[in-house]
Amino acid sequence: MKVLVVGGGGREHAIIKALKKSTRITRLYGSPGNGGIMKETQCGSVKATDISAICDFVVECEINYIVVGPDDPLSLGLVDALEKRGRKCFGPNKAAARIESSKVFSKNLMKKYGIPTAAFYTFSDYNEACAHVKLMSAKFPMVIKADGLALGKGVIIAQNCDEALAALNLMMVEKKFGESGSNIVIEEFLTGPEVTVMAFTDGKTIKPMISSMDHKRAFDGNKGPNTGGMGVIAPNPHYTKEIAEVCEKTIFTPTVNALKSEGCPFKGCLYFGLMLTPAGPKVIEYNCRFGDPEAQAVLPLLETDLFDIFEAVTDERLSDIDIKWKNDYSACVVLASGGYPDSYKTGFLINGLDENGSLFNSEAVIYHAGTAYDFFKKGFVTSGGRVMGVSAVAPSLSIAVNKAYTAAQTVNFDGIQFRKDIGNY
Ligand code: AMP
Ligand code: GLY
Repeated sequence: MKVLVVGGGGREHAIIKALKKSTRITRLYGSPGNGGIMKETQCGSVKATDISAICDFVVECEINYIVVGPDDPLSLGLVDALEKRGRKCFGPNKAAARIESSKVFSKNLMKKYGIPTAAFYTFSDYNEACAHVKLMSAKFPMVIKADGLALGKGVIIAQNCDEALAALNLMMVEKKFGESGSNIVIEEFLTGPEVTVMAFTDGKTIKPMISSMDHKRAFDGNKGPNTGGMGVIAPNPHYTKEIAEVCEKTIFTPTVNALKSEGCPFKGCLYFGLMLTPAGPKVIEYNCRFGDPEAQAVLPLLETDLFDIFEAVTDERLSDIDIKWKNDYSACVVLASGGYPDSYKTGFLINGLDENGSLFNSEAVIYHAGTAYDFFKKGFVTSGGRVMGVSAVAPSLSIAVNKAYTAAQTVNFDGIQFRKDIGNY
């Protein structure tokens, strides 16, 4: 079986490392990959969003099975295009991917099927949105979200009316997030611990993975701007067995059934961003793919062959498979470029890695994200905002966190920036 993993971040590196343990895969490809993925597999140079070029690459290399990592190719219909060419895929088709690519779609879905989420209004008219935030009854903080994909930046929490008006202007008039801001959602501000639960689903059955906790803000103490995620621990200490049962009953199964009823059954990894509010767990957001960096902490805990699970999802026989997890804890610390998530420089040599891009003498694992291999400098260089994740697994959370930090301190590059408080929840 020849398998391609589309994408080039830490998430795709984690998926590839897990798939390398599968005995059924004869050849593994990545595209576009990154410095670390290049050392694991053969990499194509095709961008994840170039749908027709990915299809051509798949045909040329006679690839049978494709795992689509990032959200943008999923929402552009890569799975639909590959299935038309008779290929099997892990990931939802374009219609099901709307659960992430359109907040208006996902909020209306939750409303229609009674899935708990923040109360909301949707607007496509700027003046109507402005009138709404000026109402006497408007409550602050108020959450304003661009409808479409915006690299995790399309959410603004406005503390007062002026901030809300500025957010509406940014999204709907200046189009800071492009067409994503043509429609917006204004929703109630919720409070409580946040939990990520990713789940495998074949459109009928849903099997949640180990829960996790992302650390979304750039700096220690949950300060600074929102990022794609600066570190993860798993399982999430707030997510008790009782809460898990409530979520399965009120959120996970109803979501899978809702998508099926709407004629767009979801097959792949469904990501639930939850908030454990005083009124019970509520959905903050859905994603149509593995979380990044969540995948870098959760997949190392998986015992079952990941490819067996992927195939069971594709073939709609997930109910037949028993998914086993290690009884351990996992931590991932993201090493980022100085300045991320705003502007940052790239091309800096990364010190502390062996020729495969791994750590010397460490049980911790490096998942490459924004890295490239520089043949002139004969080493790995930075090429993105989030450069790599350092992950460790251990019998306790504190040991896992310690191991990840001890390993992180052996890696260095100009401007390196990382949070020192991952796991201090
Ligand atoms: P999202 O991109 O939808 O995950 O939102 C980014 C972050 O904004 C979330 O992780 C939350 O911390 C915060 N957020 C989003 N929606 C709400 C809400 N309704 N109430 C409070 N915080 C929110
Ligand atoms: N870490 C958050 C996400 O993958 O969307």
